[in-house]
Amino acid sequence: MESMLREIDHVAIAVNDLDAAIAWYEDVFDATVVHRETVESDGVAEALIKVAESYIQLLTPTRDDSPVAKYLAKRGEGLHHVGYRVSDCTAALASLKAAGSRLIDEAPRPGSRGTMVAFVHPSTSFGTLIELVQESNNV
Ligand code: CO
Repeated sequence: MESMLREIDHVAIAVNDLDAAIAWYEDVFDATVVHRETVESDGVAEALIKVAESYIQLLTPTRDDSPVAKYLAKRGEGLHHVGYRVSDCTAALASLKAAGSRLIDEAPRPGSRGTMVAFVHPSTSFGTLIELVQESNNV
């Protein structure tokens, strides 16, 4: 069977100052931000830097009670989660559930860039917060 993992969609890095982080990537790597979005439901603002077919997702909280704010307060800046691009988010969730994984999202929900996403708790995936990302053109 073909792997459910199609590509690395993004690597997410939690930062305190989004503009400072963007400026650093632009200055050091001549990188370009291709997308910015505020996801109010998650309390985050993000900037996507394209790297081949994947992204670096710089994340910062928009309010004190957002999960990313709590993460920064507890752990400081750094790697926050990895987004795995899948062709069928629902099927991947079912497979994780069958394997006994702890799901944060029981069903896919809207993410940024018009994607459908679901998070998987790090406690059952080797300490890694995983985000399943299904692009809308695959629906
Ligand atoms: Co993400």
